[in-house]
Amino acid sequence: MARFWIALWALTLGHVVIASPQGQLPLAPRSTGALDAWLASETTVARQGILDNIGSAGFHAKSAKAGVVVASPSTSNPDYYYTWTRDSALVFKALIDMFKNGDTDLLSFIEEFINSQAHLQTVSNPSGGLSGGSGLAEPKFNADETAFTGSWGRPQRDGPALRATALISFGQWLIENGYTSYATSIVWPVVRNDLSYVAQYWNQTGFDLWEEVSGSSFFTIAAQHRALVEGSAFATAVGSSCPYCDSQAPQVRCFLQSFWTGSYILANFGGGRSGKDANTILGSIHTFDPEAGCDDTTFQPCSARALANHKAVTDSFRSVYSINLGIGAGKAVSVGRYSEDSYYSGNPWYLCTLAAAEQLYDAIYTWNRIGSLTITSVSLGFFKDLYSAAAVGTYPSSSPAYSAIVSAVKIYADGYVGIVQRYSLSDGAMSEQFSKSDGSQLSAKDLTWSYAALLTANERRNAIVPAPSATNTAWPATLTSRSGGGSTTKTTTTTSTMTTTTDIPCTAPTSVAVTFDVIATTVFGENVKLTGSISQLGAWDTTKAIALSASSYTTSNHLWFVTVTLPAGSTFTYKYIRVKSDGTVQWESDPNLLYTVPTTCGTTAATLSDIWR
Ligand SMILES: *[C@@H]1O[C@H](CO)[C@@H](O)[C@H](O)[C@H]1NC(C)=O
Repeated sequence: MARFWIALWALTLGHVVIASPQGQLPLAPRSTGALDAWLASETTVARQGILDNIGSAGFHAKSAKAGVVVASPSTSNPDYYYTWTRDSALVFKALIDMFKNGDTDLLSFIEEFINSQAHLQTVSNPSGGLSGGSGLAEPKFNADETAFTGSWGRPQRDGPALRATALISFGQWLIENGYTSYATSIVWPVVRNDLSYVAQYWNQTGFDLWEEVSGSSFFTIAAQHRALVEGSAFATAVGSSCPYCDSQAPQVRCFLQSFWTGSYILANFGGGRSGKDANTILGSIHTFDPEAGCDDTTFQPCSARALANHKAVTDSFRSVYSINLGIGAGKAVSVGRYSEDSYYSGNPWYLCTLAAAEQLYDAIYTWNRIGSLTITSVSLGFFKDLYSAAAVGTYPSSSPAYSAIVSAVKIYADGYVGIVQRYSLSDGAMSEQFSKSDGSQLSAKDLTWSYAALLTANERRNAIVPAPSATNTAWPATLTSRSGGGSTTKTTTTTSTMTTTTDIPCTAPTSVAVTFDVIATTVFGENVKLTGSISQLGAWDTTKAIALSASSYTTSNHLWFVTVTLPAGSTFTYKYIRVKSDGTVQWESDPNLLYTVPTTCGTTAATLSDIWR
């Protein structure tokens, strides 16, 4: 073992005591305190559940190679005793974040994981090999690190992106702690392969995370965007560069916009389903950047789009599972992959139900961080379910409404975790699914990803968040390793020689033609005008208000409208006013309406649909 690791081992703090199985907890009602108590024991169970599934020391993974994560110990009905690149990366992203937060016993597992991934990148498989890159998107391997050669839904292009993100998180820690040469010589070559892969192949179809739909998947594209953004910063931090990350990330972000339907995020292009799918909630939480605010273009967990989507996806399960029947709007329900699912007859999944909670904890973290919460017409439906007085507007954290809304969201999120508590075994075990009719465990037992999902949801619940994605350019680039660096027994020296794809033109708008439609009943001689906070709308001076047209006004449709060209990205408040024939002005009732002109590439026009208040 290299000196580097010996130096780190000296930092470790002894062994974590594994709690014995817990007794059955009361089912309902659950106070926050009861959930806290369950989570305190369940996080220990989940951590051990993961380590048990990692070779070669793991209790259930003795025949897996060191650092290899098996998806589940189940070897039949279903046989999940394989290692998936996606599952492994998500699991290790969780472990690496825990390590960075002080769980130093995880270091040896992380070391073995990096070694195993460096090797797996070189294993030729039915998707291809390393040279040319296509083999990196092979979805799964045998636990002994040989290729799985049976037929399968391949390739799956999220794996390399998620692995890059996990390894970058560890690389960031190495650099911040002075182990730059380790980051440069061991971590970066593996990450660079994956980034090259993403840059070259993101614009090709592949199978989605559920391994069923061949097409373009939101989860995959979102994960790829994150990897390229982080990859660029990490490349700089290790004294290199990633020009293909820089050229492709904006293109991927542009494509990502096309998954927005106007009311929810489409899970896949291809697949012939409604497109409401936990794929999209998972995409949002696994690209959560705690410093990105509530950005709609990256579907941040607190963005209006992602919250509207949360409602659309969770509501899609309310009537399809009998254990959800009778649970009202705004109350947590069991969440599966998608409502049309027929795998094991289609049931809720622990990791999907936990993802619904995690998105909301992420949102609460961000609102508290930025000191306000904004409700737009897009997210209004989500908020109304939880807080019936919700109205479009911005609520500063000092306001009573802010406290009321955030506490309602917290209760709602805890409800999802409470469901997982109810349907996990009394010893804390979680399989892949639980029955839609009686909540009993189904499919693969002790699913590693279920346990990782519990740990990340719990961390976000406690406001422990991952490092930001794009703000790490200030990392010191040339620290000297404190331990003199080192190498591990198994490293890859082979890197692929991939070229970058050509740029796909995508122009961000500088201005957008915004049409204001308002339904306002008027009498002859009255006019409707628009005024607002920006100069284009008269800066609240009613003599400079913009006149709307009544040319489409009919007895059944009292429509007034006007189109105004406004700068992309500008945020403003506005109101309609009614100007009577004698010139007197009648204002709409409060509050002011709020709007941000879209910046989405390719946008030239947008329409607002308002009703006079
Ligand atoms: C490739 O990118 C273009 C431009 O964003 C998009 O229209 C197309 O659907 C993408 N195709 C795939 C398979 O990703």
